[in-house]
Amino acid sequence: MILRPIHTSLPDGTPILIREVAPGDADLLRLGFDHMSDASRTSRFFGGIAQLSEAQVTAFTSPNDRDHVAIGAAVPMEDGGLDPAGTARFVRLPDDPRRAEFALTVVDRYQRRGLGSLLLGVLARVACHNGIDRLLGYVMRSNRGMLSLLDGLDARREPGPDPSVHQMILEVHDDPGDYPATPAGDAMRRADMMARMSLVPDAMPPDPDPDP
Ligand SMILES: CC(C)(COP(=O)(O)OP(=O)(O)OC[C@H]1O[C@@H](n2cnc3c(N)ncnc32)[C@H](O)[C@@H]1OP(=O)(O)O)[C@@H](O)C(=O)NCCC(=O)NCCS
Repeated sequence: MILRPIHTSLPDGTPILIREVAPGDADLLRLGFDHMSDASRTSRFFGGIAQLSEAQVTAFTSPNDRDHVAIGAAVPMEDGGLDPAGTARFVRLPDDPRRAEFALTVVDRYQRRGLGSLLLGVLARVACHNGIDRLLGYVMRSNRGMLSLLDGLDARREPGPDPSVHQMILEVHDDPGDYPATPAGDAMRRADMMARMSLVPDAMPPDPDPDP
């Protein structure tokens, strides 16, 4: 385990649980996908897919390690169940280990309520802890929401694999004070503080130069 579960709330008071995605979360993941609009599916997967493939479900719920981390958010329900609300994940680039590709998804009914920036802040803290200093994301030029969130964090835009897609490069800061003085930067600072308190000590990186 990399991160202990975080029990917090969105700015509007909605309680939210943030924790690592685990292999047992396949049904929650499928349910969250079912609750996404076609527009959100297209923004996330660059195409209007009707359902996640088994390979995608397995990849998205495979156990976390230093190179692949998936964080999920869900709203605890009165009946004890969970309403899936979003995910954030990164996969380290094998040929450039200080960088990772990331993706962020918030189910439509929870969008514009501060969850995307919260998840991104938690993911960035874990990435930083794992020795990653840049998160790369492929974002459609038409994806105003994601571009505006990343613009608020001074992410860099570079050409993507085709003209309809930007490659966005988000610098991950060990000192959260280095995120810009914007609402998105403030959200990263709040998320960073929560995530720091929840990092599992055993997941601390080994001392590179231990005393003899
Ligand atoms: C992009 C996405 C992750 C944003 O999540 P979110 O929970 O809505 O984001 P937040 O509520 O934290 O928004 C933070 C800021 O981002 C900007 N933003 C987010 N959605 C926006 C939208 N639709 N239009 C304009 N700005 C938007 C705003 O500046 C917002 O702050 P504000 O609401 O105080 O104005 C979410 O819309 C989503 O999952 N979309 C579908 C999948 C996707 O596009 N994923 C990204 C591809 S990797």
